[in-house]
Amino acid sequence: MGLTPLQKLAVTLRKMYLLDCADYFWFLRMYCLHYRSNKKFRNEHKTIPIPPAKIIYDIQGDCDLYGFYAAGQIYANEISNIITAERPKQTLKILDWGCGPARILRHLKSSDGSSWELWGSDYNSQSIAWCQKHFSNIHFIVNGLSPPIPIEDSCFDVIYCNSVFTHLSAAHHQQWIDEIFRLLKPGGFFISTFHGEAYRIELTGDEQRRFDSGELVIRDKTCEGKKNYTAYHCDRVVHALLSSFSLVKKLGAFNSSRQAVWTAVKKY
Ligand SMILES: C[S@@+](CC[C@H](N)C(=O)[O-])C[C@H]1O[C@@H](n2cnc3c(N)ncnc32)[C@H](O)[C@@H]1O
Repeated sequence: MGLTPLQKLAVTLRKMYLLDCADYFWFLRMYCLHYRSNKKFRNEHKTIPIPPAKIIYDIQGDCDLYGFYAAGQIYANEISNIITAERPKQTLKILDWGCGPARILRHLKSSDGSSWELWGSDYNSQSIAWCQKHFSNIHFIVNGLSPPIPIEDSCFDVIYCNSVFTHLSAAHHQQWIDEIFRLLKPGGFFISTFHGEAYRIELTGDEQRRFDSGELVIRDKTCEGKKNYTAYHCDRVVHALLSSFSLVKKLGAFNSSRQAVWTAVKKY
């Protein structure tokens, strides 16, 4: 199966460095499309902190508040189950790197009643400023597109990131893995998602050949770290990236996502 007409158009616009411009009009379309249902959501959930529509669009590609909230709950549940199974009945310090508007972090709690200290960081300072205003029980910090996160070594028991490596350049992949390694305590647990095999179908013929030959495939010509800058990871790429860790495992995708979930442990 080849690319859809819309995907082909995006490939052309990217080549012409026009993708971000076109994307803004797509955002306006999405804003209008979800206007009525979002109004209903706001009326039904008056106490839920809701980020500006553009911030939601930038992390999920539409403005649907029902989807935003439900996906956050689902991912938080699945991450919580993975962490609790790995580190049962423990007080943990946990970092959501690339937390955006706390879609996941706001729902995260242990499945066995353990006490977790939650931290979030992101390079989008607007998202972090919004989070700091709305979630006083969580620590938030801004980082640059490149490391470091201004926190001391061996600070976290667990670091997770959902759909962050999926928007980084090759150079930043290695730099950020090294930074995550630095921030984890010895024996610390890491969870990350990647654009794996399930995304191969969205690649052009040439990209598929590179993906199959074990290359990291990058779609650039737009702002790194943002939604339209995308990276695709075959298993070989992820294994190489996580080679400094032990107990590297590939799990199934989270419910309602196609991204491959991987876990690893920082060696003692
Ligand atoms: C697709 S969104 C996912 C947001 C969040 N993890 C979630 O699942 O709701 C990608 C996020 O990664 C952030 N990001 C991209 N590059 C980053 C970097 N170098 N450091 C920290 N955050 C980054 C973006 O600002 C954005 O919030």
